[in-house]
Amino acid sequence: MAGQRRRGDPVLHRAIREIVVEHRDEWLPGLAGGSEVRLRELSDRPRCRMLTVTVGDAAVPQLLAKVRRDAAPQPAGRPTLATGVLSAAELSALEHDGLCLIAEQVSGDDRFAAVRPVAHLPEHRTVLMEYVEADTLRDRLVRESRVHRLAHRRATEPTAMEVWSAVGGWLALHQRAVPPDGLPARQQTREAVLAHLEACGGFLDQHLGTRAVGDVVARASRFVALALPATLELAVGHGDFAPRNVFALDDGRVAVFDPLFRWAVPRHEDLCRFLVGLRLSGLALHSHGLAHPSGHLEAIETAVIRGYAPDGDPAREQLRAYGLLILIDKWTALVASSRTGLGRLRRGPLRLASSHLRGEVDRLLQAAED
Ligand SMILES: Nc1ncnc2c1ncn2[C@@H]1O[C@H](COP(=O)(O)OP(=O)(O)OP(=O)(O)O)[C@@H](O)[C@H]1O
Ligand SMILES: [Mg+2]
Repeated sequence: MAGQRRRGDPVLHRAIREIVVEHRDEWLPGLAGGSEVRLRELSDRPRCRMLTVTVGDAAVPQLLAKVRRDAAPQPAGRPTLATGVLSAAELSALEHDGLCLIAEQVSGDDRFAAVRPVAHLPEHRTVLMEYVEADTLRDRLVRESRVHRLAHRRATEPTAMEVWSAVGGWLALHQRAVPPDGLPARQQTREAVLAHLEACGGFLDQHLGTRAVGDVVARASRFVALALPATLELAVGHGDFAPRNVFALDDGRVAVFDPLFRWAVPRHEDLCRFLVGLRLSGLALHSHGLAHPSGHLEAIETAVIRGYAPDGDPAREQLRAYGLLILIDKWTALVASSRTGLGRLRRGPLRLASSHLRGEVDRLLQAAED
């Protein structure tokens, strides 16, 4: 572990340089300048490092190396939707395969771009991929927020709603194209969803107190029991389908990245994760929901759902029921991370963020119970 964390790992750097020089003409055809390969650290986080790769005289990097590390063992604590931790080597292989699959799927559809992987270096737990010079949808949300406008004293042109519908369109295309056969299934039944809600409710009561939690988890369980069928239709899960894992290119196309196609999950899970991700960006949590102009997130939600189900009913009741599960799961994760000291929320901000989450559960319940 200590060796993996060392900056500027010379063996890894040499391996990247060698493979880039070897494939220079194939990966970067028509490149002017020499073959000098410059590596620069873009970020260094507990679970991965990102290195940009610039070849020849180019001003902007052409490639990016994502180098994974094994996660430090986590204290057992909260109820989770997925079980079993994969090694950095397994995750890296899954991500490489997922990026290949996405690149294949989207070719020929002008709404989508892809982050093309060029190589997998299994012995370094590294995926080498094209460098994309673009904002993520999370960056866009931050720039369009009130907070940003006040800090920079200017408004940013809002992202076109077509971009948000394209995200829903990508998910629908992906679910049609990749059958979940052969993958382990989770939350396949209403009973499994209810069991997770009950476990989350117990965890939240224990750590926040029953007064702070109130009746929202019990109400969510009652709604789920009525709204979900006994067995849920499955699709392959992205792993972390959220605005921060989608690039918005300047030409209006979207590119979904950071895939880990590991589980067969209820078909609504990824859509719900994305919608919940919109509402629970760090900014929304810290500003208690005031960061975005009123109606903005609702309009985005509508566009994403319309993109996902352009001709028909996206099964709204089921969507809300599953959305409640994802939201309550995130609430549990927030409380757990602040308790283990891994999260960045101290007591005061935790109380605020937690009450924002409870408010979001309540908002969804009110829409559901109407
Ligand atoms: N191919 C790429 N080109 C340029 N920048 C990239 C590329 N891939 C990732 N990044 C940058 O690195 C960030 C993190 O990437 P990625 O989502 O793959 O890692 P992660 O560890 O899973 O992060 P997170 O937990 O935030 O999702 C992205 O938000 C983006 O800013
Ligand atoms: Mg990511």
